[in-house]
Amino acid sequence: MANIILLGPPGAGKGTQAKRLVDERRMVQLSTGDMLKEAIARGTDLGKRVEGIMARGELVTDDIVIGLIEDKIAEGTDGGLIFDGFPRTLKQADALGEMLSRKGLSLDAVIEMQVDDAALVARISGRFTCGNCGAVYHDRTRPTKVAGICDVCGSHDLRRRADDNADALKTRLMEYYKKTSPLVGYYYARGQLATVDGLAEMDTVGAAIAKVLDRG
Ligand code: AP5
Repeated sequence: MANIILLGPPGAGKGTQAKRLVDERRMVQLSTGDMLKEAIARGTDLGKRVEGIMARGELVTDDIVIGLIEDKIAEGTDGGLIFDGFPRTLKQADALGEMLSRKGLSLDAVIEMQVDDAALVARISGRFTCGNCGAVYHDRTRPTKVAGICDVCGSHDLRRRADDNADALKTRLMEYYKKTSPLVGYYYARGQLATVDGLAEMDTVGAAIAKVLDRG
């Protein structure tokens, strides 16, 4: 049972690969982005606080996401955890290390998904997701089999994200390079970093991640 971080800029394919690992290995996906989007959809106080921040593409405060992850870890860790979009700052990384060690859990790999900015723009501008089950699609690289209907659950509720626009994407990339990319060095120095080519086909990326997980 492994606990891993998928690290990479917006559109690198973290969510896509996390969902594969859930299906193939019964791991548990902990996506702070999905948790926050759910809070917005449910209209909770948290959702109201973060809606504008997320639509602009800025990071929400560390305390909010650290609290969300802490609650999820307390719910159970069977199958191994995939941290998707968390940590995103050095403070979050330190907090995650402390949470795991308090629980006697290890962090087995940090998988950096490398993708260049031009590819990210193309990926994000073509992305849509199922509002019912969260399946992720792309107009060109991963369309639904039948137009307008989710392959996984049959829902017609296919949506585009509020922050998948040119202005918000520019901010999201800046936030990544300023605040999240220092984590590459942080985990490299700890001997935990593995890098995969996120530009490769989805199956090839999946195989590269599986190789890291199975290296023992
Ligand atoms: P979040 O939801 O985490 O968004 P993100 O990091 O910007 O990542 P994305 O979901 O955009 O991309 P992804 O890497 O998952 O790519 P995907 O698999 O969808 O966060 C949203 C917001 O929440 C943040 O901006 C922030 O405000 C807040 N937030 C969240 N966590 C936070 C934290 N820890 N601290 C502070 N704030 C936080 O793929 C993208 C597209 O490409 C899809 O269409 C997919 O089909 C396609 N694709 C994927 N892989 C491939 C491939 N290999 N080849 C071709 N196409 C591919």
